[in-house]
Amino acid sequence: MATRRSRPSASSARPAVARPRAEGRRPRSTEARASGERDGLGRAAPAPAPPSAETPSTRLREEAGTAADWVPPRPSLPALRRQAAGCRACHLWRVGTRTVFGEGPRRAAVMFVGEQPGDQEDKAGHPFVGPSGRLLDAALQDAGIDRDEVYITNTVKHFKWERGEKGARRIHKKPNAGEITACVPWLHAELAVVQPRVVIALGATAAQALLGKAFKVTKERGKALRGTGVADVVIATVHPSSVLRAPDPESRARAEKEFKADLRVAAKHV
Ligand code: URA
Ligand code: SF4
Repeated sequence: MATRRSRPSASSARPAVARPRAEGRRPRSTEARASGERDGLGRAAPAPAPPSAETPSTRLREEAGTAADWVPPRPSLPALRRQAAGCRACHLWRVGTRTVFGEGPRRAAVMFVGEQPGDQEDKAGHPFVGPSGRLLDAALQDAGIDRDEVYITNTVKHFKWERGEKGARRIHKKPNAGEITACVPWLHAELAVVQPRVVIALGATAAQALLGKAFKVTKERGKALRGTGVADVVIATVHPSSVLRAPDPESRARAEKEFKADLRVAAKHV
């Protein structure tokens, strides 16, 4: 059961790994970040100026650790959320504005897993509130699934991006294998607490994080998979952003129809 005590990440029950907190690599203080201090890019992290040839996403690759070191023992959702808010297990904490943790009821029967927060999620601090979220909402409604009753999260909890050519837009960058490995303990902890009966993986990043690198969404989409060890039923489908990226109205309509059909399959197992 969840403990009421707030447990700091440095638990005596864990191996004495060198914690990122203790490494002294952080620029200035987390307090400055928590107090809402912003740099010129509008990010909350007071990061030092990067060498000019590098971008926020490439600069600190060597810092890859694992969120497992930050997951409290016997966690509750609030404890996980609290700990994840200060996670520094990989360099993405300097890239995104904030940790965007999963949201939903503690005992939700259904969990949706996306890739990582996008631009709007990063600003709002909530998963799937941007364009992909609106498409997900439409598909949920179509399938008769109430968003308030499901748990919605991502494989990676920080937004990874690069400046567009004109410098105005923050362009989404796919998380790499090291970042996914670093962050996935948060997802595993969410699964352990919520214990959903049905998990829906939105896109290859989520599907492969849950089911292995060899998993092919194109081949397996919309199938109710059992015996995965993740939940009674796992259903993988495409990421809603792939529907939004369809090159013409006709393929967009088809992609949306197929996405909605996959969610209707999921609804049958709820
Ligand atoms: N895409 C995702 O994978 N997750 C979000 O939260 C938003 C967009
Ligand atoms: Fe921690 Fe995940 Fe953010 Fe990396 S992306 S700092 S592992 S929460």
